[in-house]
Amino acid sequence: MSSIKLLGISGSLRKASTNRGLLRAAQSVLPSGVSLDIAELQDVPFYNADIVGIPESVQRIAHQAQLADGFIFACTEYNYSMAPALKNILDWLSRQPDTPLNDKPAALMGAGGGMGTSRAQYHLRQSCVFSMFIH
Ligand SMILES: Cc1cc2nc3c(=O)[nH]c(=O)nc-3n(C[C@H](O)[C@H](O)[C@H](O)COP(=O)(O)O)c2cc1C
Repeated sequence: MSSIKLLGISGSLRKASTNRGLLRAAQSVLPSGVSLDIAELQDVPFYNADIVGIPESVQRIAHQAQLADGFIFACTEYNYSMAPALKNILDWLSRQPDTPLNDKPAALMGAGGGMGTSRAQYHLRQSCVFSMFIH
């Protein structure tokens, strides 16, 4: 049985995403006692405070995030920043009443592009710093 639960979130929605591939690769080398789920972002709508209630796709990820002890972000880079799907789920999660991101560690990684997504990761760090510890 796993004692440490991680949630992986990739910024890319495409099936052949290299960043999602990174998360699958991480799943294949986990030490015993650690599990890694991968969040499904395909159906998550753009955050809009006018949406009444919490969409099912967001509820599912918020539940996974609540159960997680920490996060792994595989940060796709679009135009020197994180891809909108990743920013969007961070925005949704940051507005949940049970604050599932708060005070949990996060690791950042990325694949593709010219600099291994380092510029996008810089923005992601700034976005995360409000609600998480980054190790
Ligand atoms: C709209 C768009 C903007 C991009 N901007 C950058 C960029 O600024 N820097 C970079 O290194 N790669 C950039 N890329 C290349 C992506 O990082 C590359 O296609 C990567 O494989 C996408 O991640 P994924 O494989 O997880 O889908 C861009 C790709 C797209 C589609």
